[in-house]
Amino acid sequence: MHPLPIAPPPRLLMGPGPINSDPRVLHAMSAQLVGQFDPAMTEYMAETQELYRRVFRTGNEATLLVDGTSRAGIEAAMVSLVRPGDRVLVPVFGRFGSLLVEIAERCGAEVHALHAEWGTVFAPEQIEAAIREVRPTLLAVVHGDTSTTMVQPLADLGRICRENGVLFYSDVTASLGGNDVRTDEWGLDAVTAGLQKCLGGPSGSAPLTLSPAAVAVLDERRSIEAGLRAPGAGDADSPAPAERIRSNYFDLAMILDYWGPKRLNHHTEATTMLYGARECARILLEEGLDAAIGRHALHGSAMLEGVRGLGLEVFGDVAHKMTNVVGVAIPDGVDGDAVRGELLTDYGIEIGTSFGPLHGRIWRIGTMGYNARRDAVLTTLAALEQVLRRAGAAVTAGGGTGAALDVYAATA
Ligand SMILES: Cc1ncc(COP(=O)(O)O)c(C=O)c1O
Repeated sequence: MHPLPIAPPPRLLMGPGPINSDPRVLHAMSAQLVGQFDPAMTEYMAETQELYRRVFRTGNEATLLVDGTSRAGIEAAMVSLVRPGDRVLVPVFGRFGSLLVEIAERCGAEVHALHAEWGTVFAPEQIEAAIREVRPTLLAVVHGDTSTTMVQPLADLGRICRENGVLFYSDVTASLGGNDVRTDEWGLDAVTAGLQKCLGGPSGSAPLTLSPAAVAVLDERRSIEAGLRAPGAGDADSPAPAERIRSNYFDLAMILDYWGPKRLNHHTEATTMLYGARECARILLEEGLDAAIGRHALHGSAMLEGVRGLGLEVFGDVAHKMTNVVGVAIPDGVDGDAVRGELLTDYGIEIGTSFGPLHGRIWRIGTMGYNARRDAVLTTLAALEQVLRRAGAAVTAGGGTGAALDVYAATA
């Protein structure tokens, strides 16, 4: 049997990401390839760097894409900044904090994790006290953790890190473009993201930015691949083995040499993903960062009120909820997976399940990127009402769409 051409079923992706890609991004990604060092390509790379400086709200020269999903950006930042034996502090308030712990451990760090109950975040004083006690070289914090829908306030942490000589890293994969992220103002030294959430693209490219202090760490660890060294250079371009970054693919010093004026060959840049990432940033900046955040806040609150209007309970500390995803308690006696299955087969709508301690307890419904739209919110709430009624749950007739429409009317 020879497989047919790709023809995915029509879906409205209303989970915690990925979401439907903006058609403009898909269009950009269908453009023909050019060579790696073609002036057109290097120009696209430079433009992409400048676009993401604006998206991250930073003046950092070292702003680029890591080829791979968001996790590749996280691994690149960690393995490049953390030396074996370094102390790393990770405040964990959901699944992706645990991922930072695991990656830091794999880098050979001495990892200290702080834990907050899922559905809550940390007060800055808790993190400050732990920094004074642990004396880490790096603080690694998730900004918006889709597993719990919480967003950790970061604004005060940069000052605390600076006063204590700590580098400050955050994973903003799920928040960037739909929640406020201010790299320079908040004193962040390393920030990594992905395209498949509020940026409205597919997964597969990880925008990343590094402060001059982070680049200084890379400078001490910089090496040049033997096959690229000048004749007779010997090992002169390699640091002591203990200093060398423990990954070649994720060696940000090498990747910077590739993106920077030296254009030293490293991997073959994922051209199609770069076209997509560039278009995501162009779309976001055309709308304006503040307008996009406002759009996520509007449609996120319409979904939140719609869920409540159906008579369902919202998970977690709503004061610290991300704009772009809501956790919905699965009513007693309702089979969460069966509801998700019926939404998908009858309505073509995908909502998210959940992980770890929340598995089977909540659904996660996203309103982000291209799908942070009024019609997507109303369609999802209308379908959810019908599916829940058929599942035997007590839902308020018309309560979901009605409450969402009230939010829109109040902000019109
Ligand atoms: C906060 C956060 N970090 C990291 C990831 C991992 O992203 P990826 O699957 O693109 O590697 C996700 C994905 O949901 C996320 O929400």
